Amino acid sequence: MSEEFERDTPAWTRVHASGLQRDDSNVTPVIYPPEERIDDDLHLWDTWLLRNRDGSVAEIDGKRVIFALTSPSELLPGKRHDVATLRYFYSEDGETWTTGGTVFDGGALGQRQWAGSAMYDPDGDDGEVYVYYTAAGEDESEELTYTQRIALATGGSVTVDGDDLKIEGAWDHQILLTPDGDWYEREDQSRGMIYTFRDPWFFEDPQSGETYLLFEANTPVAEGAGECDDPVWEEFNGSIGIAHSPTGDPTDFELCPPLLDAVCVNQELERPHLVVRDGTYYLFISSHVHTFAPELEGYDALYGFVADDLRGDYDPLNGHGMVLTNPAGAPFQAYSWLVYDHGDELLATSFFNYYDYDRPSLDDVSLLSPTEQMRRFGGTLAPTARLALDGDETDVVGTLDHGHLPLPREPLPSLWWERDGDDGGDGYY
Ligand code: FRU
Repeated sequence: MSEEFERDTPAWTRVHASGLQRDDSNVTPVIYPPEERIDDDLHLWDTWLLRNRDGSVAEIDGKRVIFALTSPSELLPGKRHDVATLRYFYSEDGETWTTGGTVFDGGALGQRQWAGSAMYDPDGDDGEVYVYYTAAGEDESEELTYTQRIALATGGSVTVDGDDLKIEGAWDHQILLTPDGDWYEREDQSRGMIYTFRDPWFFEDPQSGETYLLFEANTPVAEGAGECDDPVWEEFNGSIGIAHSPTGDPTDFELCPPLLDAVCVNQELERPHLVVRDGTYYLFISSHVHTFAPELEGYDALYGFVADDLRGDYDPLNGHGMVLTNPAGAPFQAYSWLVYDHGDELLATSFFNYYDYDRPSLDDVSLLSPTEQMRRFGGTLAPTARLALDGDETDVVGTLDHGHLPLPREPLPSLWWERDGDDGGDGYY
């Protein structure tokens, strides 16, 4: 553990979160089903781009690659987490995606694999592709369990043959991190609703050149410790964890104290990731309306924090932390955002979740008939959101088509207020 981390954890507080509200700057347009899904045979949800060590999007013979959690599309959408399988997809134009296949051919750790990140290093000591993922569930158990460990697969390589791209390997799987019980809650310490120790995100700090993994976790809160004004709120203890590689070896990490936590505020700070611009650190997570502590009004939304150093202190963007959310009439239409820098704007990809559905909670999905549950689940990528960033303030300025993920060198369509009389096409609402 590096000494530089020994300090109090920056917090997302109830005072910040009590300011959460939808407004003109953060609501995205209503999403309608696309003409074509990425793959009709698959439900596809959490997605991430294959990136180079420095965080830029990898381009291999003109192709970019995404990884996603997937399940067969004939499955009831609520069951998909139980059988989640990593697949990859590739594209030349960032708009049309071809299904590559499953990433692993058996052998992955856990009963199923949840979200992660993927790093491409053609000079890597352990193959070209490093796949960080969540090993969910105990391999030995016959029942489905919710234990989570952070895993890594090495030994993969990418080959391109004409239009086809293949990721293959004699993968070697290892567990990189498990919770220590002091900074990061173990499952047996958990008092809350949904236990978390997952979603590893590879990150090389452009300022220091140091190598890190971010992940989603919980801060242990002892019963009766009086951390929150109301003891019930103590069950809401989400954190953003971080581990450091002392040598820069991307297979070897040590836990450090969390970057930020949300004790008394929120239980799940999902899929943490960073964008660094001009020495400013933007830290993003996704979270749900139902994981906020009582008496706070949250949303299924992308949240963000800003600091001028990796270690913080982090301040919530826009004062309260919310960056982007779904409209009131379609509050669950998208989820699991991932932000990357396009230059002038930030782009946020997410998946198309439940639409034509405006009940107060996703729990009510199970009250719908199976046919309706299937009909109302998007199961493919959502329109990419475009965000303007000004210091610690953000603004949703438009959207691109479903699953359109441009590289920084590919220009974005101009926004409607920059154009004369033309109101059609990608990027307008
Ligand atoms: C977010 C998430 C991730 C997890 C995955 C499981 O959508 O909860 O945190 O890895 O879904 O399907």
